[in-house]
Amino acid sequence: MFVVSGSTHQRLGVALAQETGAEFCGVINKRFPDGERYVRVLRSVAGHDVTVVQNTFPDESIVELLLILEALREAGATSITTIIPYMGYARQERTFQSGEAISARAVARPVGALSDRVFTVSVHTDEVLSFFGCPTQDIDGLQEAVRYLKGFKPGLVVAPDEGAREWCARAAKELKAPLHVMSKIRVDDRTVETDSGKVKVKGLTVVILDDIISTGGTIASAARLLKNAGAGQVLAACTHGLFIEDAANRLRVCDDILSSDTLEGVYTRYSIAPAIAAAL
Ligand code: R5P
Repeated sequence: MFVVSGSTHQRLGVALAQETGAEFCGVINKRFPDGERYVRVLRSVAGHDVTVVQNTFPDESIVELLLILEALREAGATSITTIIPYMGYARQERTFQSGEAISARAVARPVGALSDRVFTVSVHTDEVLSFFGCPTQDIDGLQEAVRYLKGFKPGLVVAPDEGAREWCARAAKELKAPLHVMSKIRVDDRTVETDSGKVKVKGLTVVILDDIISTGGTIASAARLLKNAGAGQVLAACTHGLFIEDAANRLRVCDDILSSDTLEGVYTRYSIAPAIAAAL
């Protein structure tokens, strides 16, 4: 088996090859003067099973992924398994107003058409899986987060909104800590209002857990309330850390910020490679 990574996941691709005993296969990846992309897979994959690792975020990664998949098909790979650690566009899995695109479907269809199976990691909603049109599985990235968080011995797990209740409840159970769920109203793309309700946090190490941190508004709002209520330490943990715009600044209220390598960055503290290897 070969593992091929696009440019979003060189390190994760190598780690995955090591975990699974596969060979890592490099790709020449360049741009033409007009900005169009060129890829060339550097090993002969004819007759081999190939696993491809690449996000569909940012936008240009989608084209890169499609070119790699097309190259592998052209070269005669026996089977292609596509791993999308962070699936960009998964949050628009339906239309909210007339005239909109179901963006998740627009991205999933061409990827699924060139893949024999697709794995996502803690995808925003399972509904997007059917859009690929091939066998799919969502890998639970939470396990790796929980394993990492155990070292902090948190006294409370906080879900920053109702949407996070289910995975925070699972994490709280495994961390043997109580769960507290806050309520959140999204005012606009960058602003949220959070109501913490009654919560006793004096001196506790508290973990706020979310699937995605984007602008940091959700976590910052929850963290401020916890700090004001007397929390000892506030940790923010997520699977997918986008940290866009001035997220780092907004999140200064947190004592520590932890994310996985589905999006590699300065807050990446743990890898989801073991979870992917186990699923494969
Ligand atoms: C929302 O449904 C997600 O679970 C996250 O809470 C959201 O994407 C976080 O966004 P931000 O960091 O911009 O508040």
